[in-house]
Amino acid sequence: MKAVILAGGLGTRLRPLTYRTPKPLVPLVGKPLVRHIIDSLPSRVDTVVLAVSYMKEALEDYFRVNDCGRKVILVNETQPLGTGGALKNVEEHLDETFLAFNGDVICSLDLNAMLHRHRQMGGIGTVALWEVEDPSPFGVVALDPTGRITRFQEKPSRAEAVSNLINAGTYIFEPEILDHIGPGVVSLEREVFPQVLVDGLFGHEFEGYWVDCGTRESYLKAQETIMRFQGDRVFDLEIRGKVALEGPYHLDGAYLEDCQVGPNVYVYPGAEIMSGAIVSNSAIMAGARVSVGAQVRDSLIGPGQVVPQGSSIIGQIIAER
Ligand code: GTP
Repeated sequence: MKAVILAGGLGTRLRPLTYRTPKPLVPLVGKPLVRHIIDSLPSRVDTVVLAVSYMKEALEDYFRVNDCGRKVILVNETQPLGTGGALKNVEEHLDETFLAFNGDVICSLDLNAMLHRHRQMGGIGTVALWEVEDPSPFGVVALDPTGRITRFQEKPSRAEAVSNLINAGTYIFEPEILDHIGPGVVSLEREVFPQVLVDGLFGHEFEGYWVDCGTRESYLKAQETIMRFQGDRVFDLEIRGKVALEGPYHLDGAYLEDCQVGPNVYVYPGAEIMSGAIVSNSAIMAGARVSVGAQVRDSLIGPGQVVPQGSSIIGQIIAER
């Protein structure tokens, strides 16, 4: 079975981090975002087709040297074709039921259960659905009592939203869906889904967790969710002095002086947190340094970046442009 991962977006909301790193390779809890998806695939998936565009060379380099235990095929778009156009562009690889993923969603969905439901309902596609309090920033669906999707709304106002169920960005499709995608730039959510409702598009609700990691806030929420699930971890740490720790945290190959770390802090290899520094709800990426007396809160400090002595970085993404 094949899985297509849409991994060609610009990742504008994570800039400046995504100027140098395509979003699928941005590290989350120690491994690239896209690896979280690949590692969660059922064993029956033997091939991953990555629909790439923006910074495709970086993705090619990553997959050349990292074995994912599955065949990985990268298919490039000369210009970003949108979520539907990207699927159409990989059509030659798809001849049977396939899985498709937005490349930046982390969730606890049981893909085998979703496949079972897809086969049971027998439609052209099944869309994973997640319940939220405020659906207005998302794609919203209405269901009939059998679970068939009757309507799609993209980012409706809160008052207009037909339900609290949102498109969770994971799909199972029959290859016939590709016949409904025209050439060029096409949006799956806005153009294709409304067209194929008559062919049977079903919803699959699940529980547990779901986070779209496309923004600083949601990235940090995903980090916290995964670290709470995994528990606090410390590897190869060098400490000089007394460190006040509050979980969840993950410290890997870092150097720490007298400082306060946590809650929700991931410190990557080679990073340094110096005397008097306070770090909370943040990721300190490889080789970054939080200098003496600095404060970092609600922030992503990109690889090799230096937070100057005594400064405060709050709610920011710091990275090379
Ligand atoms: P923002 O610019 O911050 O909105 O991020 P994004 O460009 O990743 O867009 P968005 O989060 O809406 O995309 C959802 C998923 O679809 C991500 O995994 C993107 O990589 C992917 N995606 C979006 N547009 C394209 C495209 O034109 N081609 C391909 N191959 N993937 C896309």
